[in-house]
Amino acid sequence: MTCTIIVGGFFGDEGKGKVVAHIAFQDRPTIISRGGVGPNAGHTVIVGKKEYGVRMVPSGFVYPDARLMIGTGVLVDPRVLAKEVEELHVRGRVFVDKRCSIIDEEHISRDKSSEHLAKTIGSTGSGCGPANADRVLRVARQAKDLPELSEYLIDVPMELNSAIDRGENILLEGTQGFGISLYYGTYPFVTSKDTSASQIAADNGVGPTRIDDVVVVFKAYPTRVGEGPFSTEMDRIVSDKMGIQEFGTVTHRQRRIGQWDGGMARYSAMVNGCTQGAITGIDRVDNACFGVTEYGKLTKKAREFLEMAEEDIGCPITLISTGPDVSQIIDIRDEQ
Ligand code: IMP
Ligand code: MG
Repeated sequence: MTCTIIVGGFFGDEGKGKVVAHIAFQDRPTIISRGGVGPNAGHTVIVGKKEYGVRMVPSGFVYPDARLMIGTGVLVDPRVLAKEVEELHVRGRVFVDKRCSIIDEEHISRDKSSEHLAKTIGSTGSGCGPANADRVLRVARQAKDLPELSEYLIDVPMELNSAIDRGENILLEGTQGFGISLYYGTYPFVTSKDTSASQIAADNGVGPTRIDDVVVVFKAYPTRVGEGPFSTEMDRIVSDKMGIQEFGTVTHRQRRIGQWDGGMARYSAMVNGCTQGAITGIDRVDNACFGVTEYGKLTKKAREFLEMAEEDIGCPITLISTGPDVSQIIDIRDEQ
């Protein structure tokens, strides 16, 4: 019976959504709750022929038996939420903490029209920065102030802590990545809140002593969207030649691609209190690994990469993603 946090180790878009979905099907949590900033994040989940990009609903929604929650610390855009609840057919399963701060239209226009946020920082234009600023200034609206959200309202910390007391499995999913944390990232080219595991616990009102596992997800070839330093960034010509091209889930901007950054991985694992590492995109290290589901079937090249990454992270790599589908993963958590 565990309470597990899943966070991104690099600059976001590490494939947390897919890892959350896999763990959910394996561990059968009763609640999957979302921490992180808000709808600036887009989690992509691919199941069979269907691809979903979620910005408000937890990416674990593909596992049908869990209640889905949005933690107190998260910003809620009621328009995005309503659209996703409709499209994903999750009405009745989704709950929002009554104290979540609201993103109003005005926050979105402030985000998009600000030269500093939109141009210099390269924000997603989803209103998160201005909404968090208003939250700190104590002029923001809360979920409980909006009649259209009344059907979702709940006390998320109460639900989560009671479930932990009953010995149930719980998943807390983070958004964004360590490199764009307001505290630990490449300030000022960061998002408007910390993104580390402690923040995800705080967002959900679950104290540090109640967390059993922290899974930090790293991409074999990290990516970054928006502006800011990226020390291992590759020339576009090189990444194109390698066949690596990615586009953002929310903004559709082309992502910058980099090499593995061992120093960043180590620091990120340290601050996150990583207990288990997950690596996504191993099929990019060696194409022959695409879709492989057994550790023994990985190539020598891939295994050497994993050994190096494990050394950097300083804890076992127990989840290895070999392709975009939820089923394309190697899970050796039991063998640790
Ligand atoms: P904001 O969070 O929209 O203010 O954007 C600030 C910076 O964080 C920009 O560089 C964004 O591209 C980046 N960012 C915000 N959320 C995400 C995410 O979920 N994945 C990747 N980058 C993100
Ligand atoms: Mg994303």
